[in-house]
Amino acid sequence: MLILGIESTCDETAAALVEDGRVLRSNVIATSVAEQALYGGVVPEIASRRHAEYISAAVQKALADANVTMADVDAVAVSFAPGLIGAVLVGVNFAKGLAYSAGKPLVGVHHLRGHIAALYLTHPELKPPFLCLVASGGHSHIVMVEDYTRFKILGRTVDDAAGEAFDKVARTLGLPYPGGPSVSNAAKTGNPKAYRLPVPHVEGPYNVSFSGLKTAVLNAVNQAEMKGEVISVPDMAASFQERIAYILADKLLQAAADTGATTLCLAGGVAANGRLRSLVNEGAQKLGATLCLPKLAFCGDNGAMIAAQGYYEYMAGNRAGLDLNGLPTLPIDYQ
Ligand code: KG4
Ligand code: ZN
Repeated sequence: MLILGIESTCDETAAALVEDGRVLRSNVIATSVAEQALYGGVVPEIASRRHAEYISAAVQKALADANVTMADVDAVAVSFAPGLIGAVLVGVNFAKGLAYSAGKPLVGVHHLRGHIAALYLTHPELKPPFLCLVASGGHSHIVMVEDYTRFKILGRTVDDAAGEAFDKVARTLGLPYPGGPSVSNAAKTGNPKAYRLPVPHVEGPYNVSFSGLKTAVLNAVNQAEMKGEVISVPDMAASFQERIAYILADKLLQAAADTGATTLCLAGGVAANGRLRSLVNEGAQKLGATLCLPKLAFCGDNGAMIAAQGYYEYMAGNRAGLDLNGLPTLPIDYQ
């Protein structure tokens, strides 16, 4: 079964074709990230405008790259929530028009379920149940993936998302947007023990909090400035990365030990972080659990992950009507 996946919830306009939720046939990503970097973060209006400009060509290229036409496509899957609403609506409306005109079924896909489904493209043998840390620019969840369309949230951030913390700390340190890659790049030459940053206390065994950590970095930078001293950007980037990666890995591994999960996964933009990947790898080995990491190319937003999850939503009988609406928020465990 061939699914066309469309993604436009943030600053990537993406379209891809995937067969049976596992086999990638094409993957096209147009992004406004360079333009957003001029403003130090995503400007929703710019994201929406660029989606409207790019989306038709992205879908046409995805079809051409896979050497197919809409007649070969079995269903159109679109990321309908959560996300920047103006951006989401561009993809949703385009998908509705395309599905209607081609006479194909329409499937709505939750963006974070899509991030998890990116793992199926990398690991053909991976099947639920498994325990997954989904960390992106807007969300950080520890989720038990009970089945392809059944999820149980075990923990979440009580304030900032992990990616958001990277983005804010990057801005504090004068590093470019997006913060994840720029902080981890700066951290390469830094000493992770140079600055002592706090581990926040949070209610709930698997919840996380990053707002205090972000403020600690800001305070250290401000205090240094007042004293006429200079913060070492590589050292602070390394210290921050070490701390946040430790917190995320620790909570995932605790949840794994308590639930007896034998398969652990990372998903979302922050899953590209090398330090997080290696900490979770060490911990999984100690627990004797199997670790599945998404290919770096599938960590950030893409259409393939939406097509992959679209397949499983379709197989579960989930169809959207032409009244499908985009939503800025929606829990991953919605029914
Ligand atoms: O999943 P994603 O592409 O989009 C959302 O759904 O939000 O995640 C984007 C987030 C950004 O906050 C970005 O800074 C972060 O993922 N990110 C990283 C890395 N690459 C991207 N965070 C840490 N380390 C990275 N290597
Ligand atoms: Zn995302």
